[in-house]
Amino acid sequence: MSEFSVELRDVVKKFPTPEGGEVFAVNHVTMQIKNGEFFSMLGPSGCGKTTSLRTIAGFEWPTSGEIYIEGEPMGHRPPYLRPVNTVFQSYALFPHMSVAENVAFGLEMEKTPKQEIKRRVGEALEMVKLTGMERRNPTQLSGGQRQRVALARSLVKRPKVLLLDEPLGALDLKLRKEMQLELKALQQEVGITFVYVTHDQEEALTMSDRIAVMDGGVVLQVGKPVEIYERPNCRFVADFIGETNFLDGEVRAIDGDRVTVYIPRLKDELVGTKASPVRIGEQVVVSLRPEKTRIIENKAKMGNCFSGKVLNIAYIGSDTRVFVDLGGVSLKVWEQNKISTLDPEAYYERGEQVWVVVMPENALVLHLG
Ligand SMILES: Nc1ncnc2c1ncn2[C@@H]1O[C@H](COP(=O)(O)OP(=O)(O)OP(=O)(O)O)[C@@H](O)[C@H]1O
Ligand SMILES: [Mg+2]
Repeated sequence: MSEFSVELRDVVKKFPTPEGGEVFAVNHVTMQIKNGEFFSMLGPSGCGKTTSLRTIAGFEWPTSGEIYIEGEPMGHRPPYLRPVNTVFQSYALFPHMSVAENVAFGLEMEKTPKQEIKRRVGEALEMVKLTGMERRNPTQLSGGQRQRVALARSLVKRPKVLLLDEPLGALDLKLRKEMQLELKALQQEVGITFVYVTHDQEEALTMSDRIAVMDGGVVLQVGKPVEIYERPNCRFVADFIGETNFLDGEVRAIDGDRVTVYIPRLKDELVGTKASPVRIGEQVVVSLRPEKTRIIENKAKMGNCFSGKVLNIAYIGSDTRVFVDLGGVSLKVWEQNKISTLDPEAYYERGEQVWVVVMPENALVLHLG
């Protein structure tokens, strides 16, 4: 058996446009998804997530390149002959059928024996915690429960791979967060490969073993959540995942992983960490995460210490979000409020003169683009 559950090898999917041109919805994508992995495709609207998923499912065929499932090339094999099942955002349940009938539908089409259908439907509903709701109609369920029926309907077919396209998109934020954890637990329990599409970066970080960040039909980076957040390989990924500050500059010196960058706005040099390959003289951007940047009141005898002025403060309970004018850039600094106090001295004031410090390992030097 192949080590990979799903593999995309140099997949291209072009669509003709009504204007007579063509759009590269998927542009030379290569990805290897491991057995039992929770793998997410993450990116902004129109980046090619759904199209990639549809080529895996067999609803679209690649213009060029090949999809492998469990080591076998899929060619032009139709969806129902692939060992995959898809859960869509609009669950498309049959409204006139009960929960149990909805879940049983696929097995009945395959003429599975009655007794087996009953047993497997029961198991699937147990997995999604809907035991006892067999006889209800979808209209008598909450949004989250309907989503679970859609999941059960896919799981009952025992696919090797479950493809999910923004399955939680229709739910409100609180339910969505609950379902994220449930879905992740369910995936670990059943042990099948999940390929999950979302444009929500927090959702992808919460649920995934690995994430592919996409933009414009291209995969920019594939990695574990911690790798994507702590070591983004380009400006786009750093910007898309979480919040960050960018300072433009020019590479002055490179010493192993340490890169010295001249920042014209600060009229000063900053020492950072190489996060993508860079050359001396190259125009780069330095990414500073707000929670990894610190404010101090007096100038420290260390490098990477820059003078600034507090522009604005937002106290949000757990954190204080401070915006500091640093050479004309509004720099975001998030400080966790670790001590409970009403002492005004403990908090910043607008207009206050401060110093901003950043450790070289927290200043990531990145390619433009
Ligand atoms: N059938 C089609 N014909 C023409 N263009 C298409 C077709 N399907 C998708 N596209 C184009 O391909 C690109 C990728 O679309 P896709 O649906 O894969 O994006 P997505 O990442 O899923 O976006 P979203 O987050 O909005 O769902 C878009 O520019 C889209 O307009
Ligand atoms: Mg989509």
